[in-house]
Amino acid sequence: MTIELESIVDSARTAFADAATPADLENAKAQFIGKAGRITELMKGMAALSVEEKKTRGAAINTAKQAIEAALNARRQALADAELDIQLKAEALDVSLPGRLREPGSLHPVSLTMERIEQIFASMGFDVADGPEIESDWHSFTSLNNPPNHPARSMQDTFYVDINGDDGIPYNLRPHTSPMQVRYAHAHIKKYAGREMPEIRVIAPGRTYRVDSDATHSPMFHQCEGLWLGENVSFKDLKVVFTDFCRTFFESEDLALRFRPSFFPFTEPSAEIDIQFQSGPLAGRWLEVAGSGQVHPAVVRNMGLDPEKYIGFAFGMGPDRLTMLRYGVNDLRLFFDGDIRFLRQFR
Ligand code: DAH
Repeated sequence: MTIELESIVDSARTAFADAATPADLENAKAQFIGKAGRITELMKGMAALSVEEKKTRGAAINTAKQAIEAALNARRQALADAELDIQLKAEALDVSLPGRLREPGSLHPVSLTMERIEQIFASMGFDVADGPEIESDWHSFTSLNNPPNHPARSMQDTFYVDINGDDGIPYNLRPHTSPMQVRYAHAHIKKYAGREMPEIRVIAPGRTYRVDSDATHSPMFHQCEGLWLGENVSFKDLKVVFTDFCRTFFESEDLALRFRPSFFPFTEPSAEIDIQFQSGPLAGRWLEVAGSGQVHPAVVRNMGLDPEKYIGFAFGMGPDRLTMLRYGVNDLRLFFDGDIRFLRQFR
């Protein structure tokens, strides 16, 4: 190689080394071996030479060109390596860091109770029904033998909604699941229209609302309604079904039940159902768990059925209270605070 060629190769190496990015490098390459690069110009200049001179000059230029290409490729590789290095550092994964623990969720204790109630009654041949939480005045009260202005309405401190029903009376947030008695009966009659109608046997669990709030009352709470209506259903059946339910629910064979006379507009006679544990922390105390009674003839009529033919019983219980008794919880508000330390105990 001539001194001239060596100096071109040297400046190429310097230019490549100075190129900080792949784009800079391609620009630098163009100065030496691009279309108008210095080596390319030298090659063009060979046209005037003799054959002998072309040989030696050509070989020398070629050697220089190869040296430049080698330097170019080395620098390309170096820049690519550096770029990969930066990328790898940016995406670095520290496998020694502890993982983020995701604990499995679990059902709320009241949901566990609801499921349990549904399972037990389903095993006794009861259907499970669902209904609206925003209810008409007729369904919540009037259909249940509780006419407007009747003092029995004040047994429940009801939330009213700013929308009037067809009768001009505002809708309410249902204060109990009892409206499901009439709703379900209507649906049942419609379903079996023109056919022989089987007995009505249903439970209706769900959310209910009242203007009420303390350690044992929450403005939103749960109820589960029950209805068994047929041509030959009696109070004795209620006793059997409810006793069976309580003993299965609390897993206690020697649980005592008592039916205490009471008043509800939609039943006659009416009874409060109390239970008594024979052992454990609550042993000996009578604990109220449900209201019940024989369905009032006026209610049977509002269902669209003949009270001379159809007779049966209804009950309404509080799954929140059943949950408190089953797990020994003494403050209802714990169920609705959402405190994970409380809730994870039911996992
Ligand atoms: N609806 C009543 C309440 O919320 C509970 C109740 C009592 C339901 C007697 C019934 C029943 O079906 O027969 O207090």
